[in-house]
Amino acid sequence: MSLDLSFAEQRRISTAGSITAEAGQVFTPRVAAILLASMLDLPDPKRLRILDPGAGTGILGAALVSLIREARPGTSVELVAVERDSRLIPALGETLHEVDSLANVSASIIEADYLLDESGLLGGHEALDDPFDLVIMNPPYSKLAAGAPERLALRQLGVEAPNLYAAFMALGLSQLRPGGQLVAIVPRSFMNGTYFESFRRFLLNRSALRRIHTFESRNTVFRDSGVLQESVIVTLEAGGKPGPVDIGVSLTNDPVPHHYTVDYEKVVLPTDVHKFIRIPDEHGEDIPADKTLAELGLSVATGRVVDFRARSYCLENSGDETVPLIYPGNFNSGVITWPRGMKRQKPQHFDARDDFSRKQVHAPGRYVVVKRFSAKEEPRRVVAAVWDGEGPVAFENKTNVIGPIPDAAVAIGLSIWLNSGPLDRLFRTFSGHTQVNAGDLRTLPIPDEDTLRKWGCDREPELLGQDEIDRIVTEEA
Ligand SMILES: C[S@@+](CC[C@H](N)C(=O)[O-])C[C@H]1O[C@@H](n2cnc3c(N)ncnc32)[C@H](O)[C@@H]1O
Repeated sequence: MSLDLSFAEQRRISTAGSITAEAGQVFTPRVAAILLASMLDLPDPKRLRILDPGAGTGILGAALVSLIREARPGTSVELVAVERDSRLIPALGETLHEVDSLANVSASIIEADYLLDESGLLGGHEALDDPFDLVIMNPPYSKLAAGAPERLALRQLGVEAPNLYAAFMALGLSQLRPGGQLVAIVPRSFMNGTYFESFRRFLLNRSALRRIHTFESRNTVFRDSGVLQESVIVTLEAGGKPGPVDIGVSLTNDPVPHHYTVDYEKVVLPTDVHKFIRIPDEHGEDIPADKTLAELGLSVATGRVVDFRARSYCLENSGDETVPLIYPGNFNSGVITWPRGMKRQKPQHFDARDDFSRKQVHAPGRYVVVKRFSAKEEPRRVVAAVWDGEGPVAFENKTNVIGPIPDAAVAIGLSIWLNSGPLDRLFRTFSGHTQVNAGDLRTLPIPDEDTLRKWGCDREPELLGQDEIDRIVTEEA
C-alpha cells in the first residue's frame, strides 16, 4: 500500500503559511516531490536506508517511501529525517507518523543542525553513522561567507562550499554507500562559474552524474512560494563511473516531461579545466572545437574602463592624448564602428593623460571584443566583433576583450566562431542568464588556430548572414 500524500501536501501549505520563513526555507510541492523520488533507480535489497536532510515538513522522504512501498513491497525501509527548525518538528512528526504506519517502514526525526552535527563539529548522531542507500533533498539556499562555520566544517571533507545547498549535497554524498544515490533539487548556479569549482570537482570525482532535470519556465516548481531561482534536479551515484546522462525537461504546457540521453563528454567537456556542467540540447551537435583561448595563447579580460568611475576621462571630443573608447554600442555586425555618429551616443574618446587612465588603455593591436550583456530578445547570447585600429584603445567595462591577435585571419575566424549558432547553443548549455563573463569565455571550446585561420582567410570581419556563418563552422571545419 502506498501513502496518500495529500495530508503531507496540506501540511506543507499550512506550515508555509504559518511560519516566517528563514532564508532558503522553501517547501517542495507534492508533484515535484514525486518527480524527485522517481529520479532514483530503486535498488532491490532487503532493507533500504534513506536520508532526508533539511526535511522541513517531510514531504520528500514521504514521497520516496511511498514509491518504494509500491515498487518494492518486500523491502523494509528506514527513513531518517534531519531538521534544525523546532517550529517544523510537529508537522514533520505528523508526516513521519503516517510513513511509519506503513508495513515494514520505520521513520525517525533527528532535530539537529545537519551540517555542524554531522560533520562532527557539534558531536554527531548514531542514527546517521551507517551509510545510506538513498539521499533525497531540497536543501536550504544561502551564501556561506568564507569564515562561516558550515564552510569550515565542509573543508574537513575537502570541499569548498560557497552555499548551504552545496554543503548539504557534499555531505549527503559522503554519507552514501558506494553505488548509493542522491537526488537533489537545487539552484543551477553550481553548474558553472568559478565559485563552485571546488564543489564541482568534489561531486564529479566522487560520483557519476546520472540525471539532470530542468524546467522550461523558472516558476514551474515553487510557483506558490514565489521563488524565481532557476532550479534543476540532479541524480548522482556515489563512486559510479561516468556514463550517458538522462536529461529531462518539464515543459510549461505539457504535464509529461520530455527526456533524451546525452554522452557524458557533452555534459562535462574533456577540455574544460573548470568542469562546467552543461545541459546540452537534444541534438547535442558535434562541435569542431577542442582548444581553449589560453591554449591558443590568447588572454581574455573584462574591458578596463568603468565609465562612471572615470567620468572626467570619457570625453565627447578628441584631444591630444585621447584614444578611442569602445562601448557595446560601437558593435556593428561583426566590426567595431568608431566613432559612432549617433545621437545621444556614449563618449567616444578616453583621455589617457595620466597614470590612472593610461593603465586602462590597451596596447595597439587587433582584438576580438564580446558584449558582456545581451538583451533577452537578442537571438544570440554571445555577440562578438573585431577591433582593428591603429593605435592604443580603451574598452568599456561592459565588454570582454580577447587578444591582441596578431593574425587578422585568426581574429576574423574567432569572431565567426563566437557569433555562430553552434557556439551559442553550447553557451546556453551551461548558462541560463544573459551575461557573458570573461571566465565563461575562458572555458569555451575554441577551434585550433589552423581552423580559425581557414575560416577567416579571404573574408572581411563584417558578419555574413547567420546561415552562412553556421554553414562555415559546420561545413568548413
Ligand atoms: C528548502 S527547505 C526544504 C524543506 C523540505 N525538504 C521540502 O522539500 O519541503 C530546507 C529545510 O532545511 C532546514 N535547514 C536549514 N538549515 C539546516 C541545517 N543546518 N540542518 C538541518 N536542517 C536545516 C530548513 O529549516 C528547511 O526546513
